[in-house]
Amino acid sequence: MDSIKLSNGVSMPMLGFGTFMIKQDCEQHVADALKLGYRLVDTASAYFNEAAVGRAISASGITRGELFVTSKVWVQDAGYDNTLRAFEKTLRELGLDYLDLYLIHQPYGDYYGSWRAMERLMDDGLIRAIGVSNFSPERVVDLALNSDTPPMVDQIELHPFLPQTDAIAEIRKYGCVPQAWGPLCEGQRDIFGNPTLTEIAASHGKTAAQIALKWNLQRGVAVIPRSTNHKHRAENLCLDFTLTDEEMQRITSLDIGHSEIIDHRCAHTARQLINWKIHD
Ligand SMILES: NC(=O)c1ccc[n+]([C@@H]2O[C@H](COP(=O)([O-])OP(=O)(O)OC[C@H]3O[C@@H](n4cnc5c(N)ncnc54)[C@H](OP(=O)(O)O)[C@@H]3O)[C@@H](O)[C@H]2O)c1
Repeated sequence: MDSIKLSNGVSMPMLGFGTFMIKQDCEQHVADALKLGYRLVDTASAYFNEAAVGRAISASGITRGELFVTSKVWVQDAGYDNTLRAFEKTLRELGLDYLDLYLIHQPYGDYYGSWRAMERLMDDGLIRAIGVSNFSPERVVDLALNSDTPPMVDQIELHPFLPQTDAIAEIRKYGCVPQAWGPLCEGQRDIFGNPTLTEIAASHGKTAAQIALKWNLQRGVAVIPRSTNHKHRAENLCLDFTLTDEEMQRITSLDIGHSEIIDHRCAHTARQLINWKIHD
């Protein structure tokens, strides 16, 4: 499993297992992923599955140091004290005594307060690395230039229909590693039947899913595909091939220039996410 060094020297696997919307049988899915060889698991307080993820980790028998566990603080818990409280709950739910990566889930609310709390938790040895999610480049620049710790990771929507090449170049200037959520476009836009991806896949004896994942990895973008299907989970780990420059370019040219999943710049999205409560 390839890894990338974050700006503070912490090593993060380039490929991990996503758990968004996995509630039913989450423990078994994560357990199977770990058995297959996944070593990074991505969860969030807003996924309501941290406890199940924690149980799978605990039962796996894998040494804690070999695992990389990511979670995220939700908008409702933005701010210094709220984030300290939310982190404590996350750690308790996961049954861990430290987290590898903690992210600000959405760019709303008092996330500067959250960031200072996360810096403190990192100083206290309770988090190994900190980052953000769904931050546009100008927000990454703002946080990087107005805090002691530039964000180490930005987890954003990145797939062949939304390569965000310019955004990635901007955040990299601050040592921020792009990590793709929705690397398979959540299965939308007929990604698995896309003619360009299936044609390239056939020439490598691979699937469209493997091509989409490899394309991100090959341009230095970490990926966290989700699957509740054992065969798919295994397939997503088998990426031992190389795309040519021409293939990379053909895939990048599938760019449709906007997200069909969520638009963080839209007022309606901001309202919806800010108003979505995950606890009393
Ligand atoms: N920070 C954020 O705001 C944010 C937002 C969204 C997601 N995320 C994180 O990113 C992770 C990945 O993104 P995502 O869950 O939205 O979507 P995704 O990984 O892009 O797509 C998941 C979909 O792809 C299918 N799939 C997976 N592997 C496949 C394969 N080899 N062949 C065919 N179909 C395949 C899955 O179906 P099957 O189950 O049938 O395989 C599922 O329907 C999440 O789980 C979560 O951890 C973060």
